[in-house]
Amino acid sequence: MKTLRLSAAAAVASLILTACGGPPGTPQVDLSETSPEEAFANVTDERLLNARATPEEWLSYGGTYDEQRHSYLTRISTENVADLGVAWTYDLATSRGVESTPIVVDGVMYVTSAWSIVYALDAVTGEELWVHDPDVDRAVGVNACCDVVNRGVAVYEGKIYVGVIDGRVQALDAKTGELIWDVVTVDQTRPYTITGAPRVVDGKVLIGNGGAELGVRGYLNALDADTGQLIWRFYTVPSPDKTPDGAASDSAFETVGNVTWGDTGAWKTDGGGGTVWDSIVYDEVNDTVIFGVGNGSPWNQTMRDPSGLDNLFLSSIVAVDADTGAYKWHFQTTPGDNWDYTATQTIILAELPLGENGALRRVAMQAPKNGYFYVIDAATGEFIQGAGYVPQNWTTGLTPEGRPIEVPEARYAEIPYLQTPGPLGGHNWHPMAFNPDVGLAYIPAQEIPQAYVEDPRFQEDSTKWNTGADFAAGVPPVIPSEVFKFLRSGLKGRLIAWDPVANEPRWTVEHEGPWNGGVLSTAGGVVFQGKLNGEFAAYDAATGEELWVHDVKSGAASGPGTYEIDGEQYVTITTGWGSAYLLSAGGVAAPQPVPPAVGKVVTFKLGGDQVIADIDIPMVEPTPKAEEFGTDEQLAIGLVQYARNCTVCHGPFAVSSGVLPDLRWSAYTASAEAWKGVVADGNLQSIGMVSFADVLSTDEIEAIRAYVVQQAHNPDGINEAIEGGAP
Ligand code: HEC
Repeated sequence: MKTLRLSAAAAVASLILTACGGPPGTPQVDLSETSPEEAFANVTDERLLNARATPEEWLSYGGTYDEQRHSYLTRISTENVADLGVAWTYDLATSRGVESTPIVVDGVMYVTSAWSIVYALDAVTGEELWVHDPDVDRAVGVNACCDVVNRGVAVYEGKIYVGVIDGRVQALDAKTGELIWDVVTVDQTRPYTITGAPRVVDGKVLIGNGGAELGVRGYLNALDADTGQLIWRFYTVPSPDKTPDGAASDSAFETVGNVTWGDTGAWKTDGGGGTVWDSIVYDEVNDTVIFGVGNGSPWNQTMRDPSGLDNLFLSSIVAVDADTGAYKWHFQTTPGDNWDYTATQTIILAELPLGENGALRRVAMQAPKNGYFYVIDAATGEFIQGAGYVPQNWTTGLTPEGRPIEVPEARYAEIPYLQTPGPLGGHNWHPMAFNPDVGLAYIPAQEIPQAYVEDPRFQEDSTKWNTGADFAAGVPPVIPSEVFKFLRSGLKGRLIAWDPVANEPRWTVEHEGPWNGGVLSTAGGVVFQGKLNGEFAAYDAATGEELWVHDVKSGAASGPGTYEIDGEQYVTITTGWGSAYLLSAGGVAAPQPVPPAVGKVVTFKLGGDQVIADIDIPMVEPTPKAEEFGTDEQLAIGLVQYARNCTVCHGPFAVSSGVLPDLRWSAYTASAEAWKGVVADGNLQSIGMVSFADVLSTDEIEAIRAYVVQQAHNPDGINEAIEGGAP
């Protein structure tokens, strides 16, 4: 596309100007020429390419194509950020996870919440303009490894694009919310989900999917923005027999991919994983789409592919031609992934003085789950440098080519290996930001170790987590409170300001625990971050000094945004509980007492004086509903089957984080019939609790009830440890 390339050059010129410290260029698009009536949310290629020069708006998930999440607005600065107060709040009416970054275009905010519901709000007042619910069958919630979340929309030429949790992509009329087109982008008989925000480049909607915990084959789709038709698809794992798919990825597998896979193993039926569930950036200088690829499925490589080869393109950063999807280069962060070490985390493009004699070099940066911060060449994928940004014990370092030098124990088998980072990563989906003036990347980092051990009962079955690693191994039926205390003390969260040129941290802020929010950086010298404990905070970009903090009354994990309307700068964040950590780590890991969960959009301005309403949710009385029962053998079966089938939603050891019911106090535990009605017969299917009749026998279901009831009668263990306070 010729016109796009021309304007790309203009954008690069403005980019280099700003990178040298000059003021951001004036907007190159004169919006006053089009009346808003005829061109509602008319986000064109020009506007997207020039987004850096129009910081009044927040046009795409990462703010700009390079996804720096750095705004050039300066009205809110280190001098006055302490005067921020609430301008308005909007109730998203959900108690499930909220991860959305709001998009702000022409005075309207577009935001999503759980179950892929889209909201259009007046960005000044928070007044609701329209709501679109894609009416997802709640039973698909069982496919969502990490809650039924959604990270946001894309806006382009009057349309709003949303990825739906059941694998559809929808285009809505930006003005009315009416459905324009709706396409299914996955095989809905497989456990695919979509949680990521679409990106739009040159008339194409780019969207991947998730599901690698349950067994799928990953890919990135480019859809026609007008019709939803597939333009190209790039698979990240070869087809089971390594034959061409007729897809854009074919040549990549012929040349570099196929030889990195063996001819046996679960990947051939499971799909192999490699889902593209989060980061996608557009490098306009090289006309390249660069995306992050997820973990292997199953996790355990011995079961996935006993050859032990590298398994491209799992856990890789991959670059393809934006027009055709043709392969350009890749950089694999974790060869032969064995630990759920996705490389889907935020990818940021920037110009850094890493060339010869300090010349600027265009780079891509990422802090993937595996604990290393990487700087690679954006044109070639060549490794420039990397270093551990959190403590890690699975390698002794990186080779000069950036390949991890593994310790042998990390390839776990029957003997567990207590590894850090664990599967939730040193950094997860929470967006990282980069301030090009200060030269620092801000990483929402964490330490959540995990003991990995082979699961001898592994079987292919995609209605539940299928990792080949055993979460119940070595767990005694009754856990002493010291063990819980020890587990909690190992959980850490921090904001790290990373200097990608010096290849080391500049400053660090320690948080109360892990799973804190995404980051926003501004030219006012402020870094904003939400926290799991319900605080939203501002730090000095250069020093990390805390300048302001506000209680937003619910976990604040998403990426904040900022925009300016009529001379007033706003900072906004979506809040709400849920998502992977809270569901899977449950009450064991949540701050105590657990804040109530109702998703909101909370928007701040200088001198704002609104109050965030308290949420009044009746507490469930924590009393056991049945007497203890069950033989030792039955309890042992219950523990294992609970860990395999229920932990990811109801929390480990039957301790919930408060997002989904805590089964220990559930009235359904009182009778075998009622319990079976829910767990086997699917009586609560309409609210997302599917039947497990296909995977569990009646005896196993009853054994789980015995285990859960036993946990309810175990106050000295779990409860005492949890009451001890936040990790
Ligand atoms: C994919 C997530 C998911 C998994 C896995 C899951 N559940 Fe559920 N469960 C739910 C949801 C959602 C609800 C309904 C929540 C609500 O009340 O809104 C629920 C509700 C329940 C309830 C009713 C609780 C009450 O008091 O209302 C029981 C009992 C239950 N689940 C048992 C189980 C058991 C046993 C397992 C493992 C075999 C399991 N669940 C696995 C999501 C899940």
